[in-house]
Amino acid sequence: MIAVLNGVNLNLLGRRDPAVYGSLTLSNLESRIYEWSRAAGSPARCFQTNHEGAFVEYLHDSVGWASGGVVVNPGAWTHYAYAIRDAVEFVVEQGVRVVEVHLSDVDHREEFRRHSVLQGVVSHRIAGKGADGYREAVEWLIGQSGSVG
Ligand code: DQA
Repeated sequence: MIAVLNGVNLNLLGRRDPAVYGSLTLSNLESRIYEWSRAAGSPARCFQTNHEGAFVEYLHDSVGWASGGVVVNPGAWTHYAYAIRDAVEFVVEQGVRVVEVHLSDVDHREEFRRHSVLQGVVSHRIAGKGADGYREAVEWLIGQSGSVG
């Protein structure tokens, strides 16, 4: 099983700046993730919250069932939330791979978006590919399963 966690404001997908984040709603995106993941060989479970503590607790819990790995898009928390960084570090230390995904090209937007607290902690990072970034993330995780590290 793969866990896919979307953080703060990502419930607004489809309505929020579609030129930057695309026109899919969160529920459209999650349906695609379920299909992509199943087609690639592992089911996925998706979760979204606007509450940092809930995001952290979901990460803790995922260690118990997401042996296929975890995909995270923490939204703006990416840029400053060290509690999320520490929770991701814990997940990776438990032997579960974590991929950071951003719909938009965060490295070429406002200055504050260029810094990620997850840098150096995550197993892989994908940015600027829109919804396809999630597809790449689940396929990357499935491709890694069975290999060491
Ligand atoms: C985002 C990029 C963040 O800077 C922003 O705050 C988001 C979404 C993305 O998916 O492109 O909410 O993580």
